[in-house]
Formats: sequence, C-alpha cells, structure tokens
Amino acid sequence: MQVSKKIAVLPGDGVGPEVINPAIRVLDAVAQKYRYHFAYTFGSIGADAIEKSGTPLSDATLADCITSDAVLLGAVGHPKYDKDPTLPLRPEMGLLRIRKELGLFASIRPVTTYPSLYHLSPVKSNLLEHVDIVIFRELTGGIYFGEKKHDADFESASDQSSYTAKEITAIARVAFDYASKRKRKITLVDKANILETSRLWRKVVTALAESYPAVELDFMYADNAAMQLIVNPAQFDVILTDNLFGDILSDEASVLSGSLGLLPSASIGKGPALFEPIHGAYPQTAGKDTANPIGTILAAAMMMEYFGFNDAAADIRQAVQWAIQNAFVSKDIDPVNFYFTSTIGELICDYITGKTDHAVNKGNIQIRKSTII
Ligand code: IPM
Ligand code: MG
Repeated sequence: MQVSKKIAVLPGDGVGPEVINPAIRVLDAVAQKYRYHFAYTFGSIGADAIEKSGTPLSDATLADCITSDAVLLGAVGHPKYDKDPTLPLRPEMGLLRIRKELGLFASIRPVTTYPSLYHLSPVKSNLLEHVDIVIFRELTGGIYFGEKKHDADFESASDQSSYTAKEITAIARVAFDYASKRKRKITLVDKANILETSRLWRKVVTALAESYPAVELDFMYADNAAMQLIVNPAQFDVILTDNLFGDILSDEASVLSGSLGLLPSASIGKGPALFEPIHGAYPQTAGKDTANPIGTILAAAMMMEYFGFNDAAADIRQAVQWAIQNAFVSKDIDPVNFYFTSTIGELICDYITGKTDHAVNKGNIQIRKSTII
C-alpha cells in the first residue's frame, strides 16, 4: 500500500515562497522514487497573512496545520513592521503562535560543515574540521513567551522569562535521546551565574542525566559558549539551551557552515512537527530567484527522517552534498558563478531521480547557470 502524508505548506514572506518551491519539488522527487504520496495544502503566515486576512496566522490555517502530518514553512518577517515597535500585529506573531499552538517545544538545529565551503567561513579552516553540532533550542517558553509590558509613553519596558521543570525535562529528554545515538556528549548552555531560570535548568538537567549514564553532560555559560563556538567549535556535539540563547547561538553557529542559508531546523512537539530553514525572510533578495534553497531542502530531509523515510532523507542529503561539492551553489555562496534558486532545486531533483549523470557533465549544467557570467 502506498504511504500517504498530508503536508501543510506555509511559504510566508520574503524569500519564503522561492525556497519552498524547490523543497516541494525535492519532496516530489523522493515520493516518485519511493512511491510515497504527499498531499500539500497551502496557507499564509506572517506579513503575507496580515495582508490577506488581517492576522499573522488565521484559525483556519492553524486548524489545517493541526490536522496535517507535518508543516513546511518558508520564512516570516517584513521590514515594514520593524520600523514601528508599537504596531499591534507583527509577522513574527504568526510563527510564535504556531509554535505555541502545536506545542513545538524542541527546535533541532544541526550545524554541518562542508570542506568545499570552509573558505566562506570567517573561522579558520583547521578549526572547522570535524565540526558537527546539533543545537536543541527550547521553543515555547522563556523570554519569548513571558509577559511583555511597556508604559504608556514607552519609556520603560519589560519581558519576563520563566520556565517550569516540566518544560525543561521535555526538551532535555529529546536531547539526551538524540545524544545517545551520537557522540554522547551534551553541553547545557545557560547563565546560571546570573539567572534563576538557568539554575533551574541545571538542576533539572543534572537530575535527568542520571538516567543517561552513557551521555557526558557539561555546562557552559552562554557568553563563553558564544566565544567557544568560534575558537574551538569541534569540542561541541549536542548543545542544549533555552529559547533566547538557542536563537542567538544557532545564527552564530551558522557561520561555521559558511552561510545562514544552509541550515535547516525541525521543531517537534506532541502533534505534527514543523520544518523550516533557520534563516529569515531576507527581503533584500526576495523575488530574484537567488536565495539559497539548501536550508529548506535539508529541512525537507529532516521531515523525511521524522516520517521514518530514512532512505529518502539520505538521498536528499547526498544530493545536497553533491550539489555543494560541484559548486552548484547560490549567490550567498558564490556571488559570481552562482546558480539560481530554482535551478539548484532542479539539479538536486534530477540527481535524486537519476536523470543527472552522477559523474556530472558540467558542460550541460553550465547552461543552467546565472546569466551574469
Ligand atoms: C528563528 C527566528 C525567529 C525566532 C524569528 C523569525 C521570530 O529568528 O527561528 O530563529 O526568533 O525564533
Ligand atoms: Mg533566529
């Protein structure tokens, strides 16, 4: 019997729609190869949704996501909303709402390095060898969701951060299970020298670690972790951290890969999981077909793994490796000899379905390069 999955697609803002398209084509390519069936429904989120329906995430779209097997999201955000901090509706509210409503408490953000892209990282190449980090960022608590206040004339403001032992245990368990299958090392990143919530994290995670004797647990203050990620990134395996530190450190860690555009994420909860690139809407390049589709394509690979379609996930990752190794890359990676977003998607699909000679006939593919050269 054919395995069928329902996928809710939320392209969102800026480059969102143009990175979503190639990811869907890649999903179709593995579906064709393994005889899966993916049924897509499309909805709006972010600034796109505010414009269309007056809310950053409508109840109808949310309901559709809840009844899907997984959600694929592009990007959320628009500069027009950044200029006025007092606006009641902001695109990011759509993202926060879907995270909260789907209970997506754990955001898994792998940071992979590619030898052919070492030169793009501001970090020295010798420090990038053996770097393979997975950040587990708590996603539905902390300062992102605490009470927010400001006085009438916006002369004072506050954001509350709180965590419960239950919330911390939920993500820590996912991280420990995952670490058990890797190098069995977890670094809890916090500011336990300053923050009460961090001291709770240490207490809860230390207690949980007793059930995972094979996993080594160490602790690092967030400021030091930010520095260590640059001076000695290979020391990390799994990083476990709260919502705000995880947001900051995952962007920082992306420079190890060479581009923010390469990083995917999977956000999991009790119901359908959500898959998205970690980059934002990047409005400067929206509509030009020059955004990097790899973060979203690798998010699709994480979705395949989540469904248990491990061969499909491995195929997508191998195709991405192939594209990067052969310099079929977007403008952020090679500003002169770049390929268009859609072309990279097609090349990856052709590789998966076996249409492209895996030995690569560069002459034929050259024609599909950007017109700038
Ligand atoms: C991320 C993003 C979001 C966040 C923004 C777009 C709200 O930066 O997923 O890392 O801050 O969580
Ligand atoms: Mg972020």
